[in-house]
Amino acid sequence: MRSHTIHWPAALPACAVGFALLLAGCKPLPPSKPASEWTEQEARGAAVYQTKCARCHYPTNTHSLHGPGLQALTKLKSMPSGAPPSDERLTDRILHGYGMMPPTSLSDDQLRDLLAYLHTL
Ligand code: HEC
Repeated sequence: MRSHTIHWPAALPACAVGFALLLAGCKPLPPSKPASEWTEQEARGAAVYQTKCARCHYPTNTHSLHGPGLQALTKLKSMPSGAPPSDERLTDRILHGYGMMPPTSLSDDQLRDLLAYLHTL
């Protein structure tokens, strides 16, 4: 096998893409709280998430499944729709649905736990 040296012009497109992302403000997301540090409430919320939300939303990235991935949801200025990720707004989205997202029925306790968990993402 011949070894190939990488000539720098070949690396230029990759740099250009990286630079464009930088300009677009594509910063790495703040990290999620590790499961080992969850409070009991956050752990209960994670269980609610598994049964009610996980089939449509990844919790650990922002890639689309059926809906957008929810990593760092409450740490960013806005949700994909542009609305602020306040508990009030999230509660409304969850209980009443939004666009292609169906409403989810939850008890008050489940909702509180779920919101606590969403803040760990
Ligand atoms: C059947 C699939 C499905 C389920 C279950 C579901 N979602 Fe969604 N969700 C979606 C889709 C699709 C969208 C995008 C809606 C749109 O933009 O029209 C969305 C959007 C969202 C958004 C972004 C709202 C915004 O303003 O941008 C949040 C937050 C969200 N979902 C949270 C949740 C949570 C928390 C649960 C669990 C209680 C959940 N979803 C359950 C499909 C789902």
